[in-house]
Amino acid sequence: MAYLAIFAKTTCPILRSTGGPDMINPNASFATRAIHHGYEPMDHEGALTPPLHLTSTFAFDSAEAGGEMFAGERAGHIYSRISNPTLDLLERRIAALEGAEAGLALASGMGAITATLWTLLSPGDEVIVDKTLYGCTFSFMQHGLAKFGITITHVDLTQPGALDTAISGKTRVVYFETPANPNMRLVDIAAISAVAHAHGAVVVVDNTYATPYLTQPIQLGADIVVHSATKYLGGHGDVVAGLIAGTAEQIAEIRLFGMKDMTGAVMAPFNAMLILRGIKTLELRMERHCASAQTVAEMLEAAPGVAAVHYPGLPGFAQHSLAQRQMALPGGMIAFELEGGISAGREMMNRLRLIRRAVSLGDAETLIQHPASMTHSTYTPEERAAHGISEGLVRLSVGLEGVGDILADLEQALPAPARAAA
Ligand SMILES: Cc1ncc(COP(=O)(O)O)c(C=O)c1O
Repeated sequence: MAYLAIFAKTTCPILRSTGGPDMINPNASFATRAIHHGYEPMDHEGALTPPLHLTSTFAFDSAEAGGEMFAGERAGHIYSRISNPTLDLLERRIAALEGAEAGLALASGMGAITATLWTLLSPGDEVIVDKTLYGCTFSFMQHGLAKFGITITHVDLTQPGALDTAISGKTRVVYFETPANPNMRLVDIAAISAVAHAHGAVVVVDNTYATPYLTQPIQLGADIVVHSATKYLGGHGDVVAGLIAGTAEQIAEIRLFGMKDMTGAVMAPFNAMLILRGIKTLELRMERHCASAQTVAEMLEAAPGVAAVHYPGLPGFAQHSLAQRQMALPGGMIAFELEGGISAGREMMNRLRLIRRAVSLGDAETLIQHPASMTHSTYTPEERAAHGISEGLVRLSVGLEGVGDILADLEQALPAPARAAA
């Protein structure tokens, strides 16, 4: 592609790893890969924790060497908007966890999403997206991509047959979240990928809610995975970050065009260290998030005054069998609605003492928010109605506190009948 011309060859060495060895044992467990993949302390003076390469630019051995790097004839780092050794390690680690050839680190989840789609799409193309998307992703599609002549078609991707009907020769990308933010709809990754590939479309999955510990979309047939690493991957609410995983060729294109030229949304090296640290405990944290969320969802389902609970681990969840097939565990996110609608929801949120009223998710702290007035206020009320986001829906990110304390806080805050029954 033309934008790769600054590096004469698409097989440019800069795109190959310049860091330590990959896993000695490729069959190592998820937790072992999350802690060790791609790093050998003995290559770094024995430092157990990977060094932080806090540098914007890299010195060339000679003028010729610099020229050769730009020409793609010599491996090495040039400038941290293109690559950096600390980011390189994180990129190889997310690729190892997603079962992908390569990874890419970006400044935010939105940076990851926009860099991917600016790279894949051209004016005149169509992107088919699921009905429910995170608010800013929805806004980027409706108001960003559409402004540049790309057609956005919303299809109910919980029904693979609906994709088969809607897809056309213009469809370049099929994009979805599973579970979807905020209403927890699941999409069958294997079934949707089969339909998309039969029509030559690229499948992009936002795996923020599930994380690679629960679901590895590329193993199920998807092409590219995007993440808000701000959430479970970072895990501590102290960094905004994004990650992408895909083939080496796709990642090279997104790096050299979507990231380097179109968005400039490069991750800071210090943030890469925070994400590398977070990923080391991802498995442990996800186990706890999921176990506590299951307990909380069961309590909510039984509580009077709660009209609906959307959680993949509940047998009554509409897509429970898909959840069991596609997710190792049902996740740490719950959506629920109270009988009194949003006014009851707001009153309940204001009675909480431990649980924080805050957007974001996947942190150690349990967080609660109201999508219609907060994360999904980028939709109009009519759009929310058409896209399955009810005005009364409340979103809960179950944290890592003692589950008894989370239950107690919710029970004292739920509408009076539930409090009496508890
Ligand atoms: C599912 C999902 N995707 C993407 C994003 C955007 O990520 P970031 O806030 O890191 O830009 C979010 C943020 O909440 C999200 O929930």
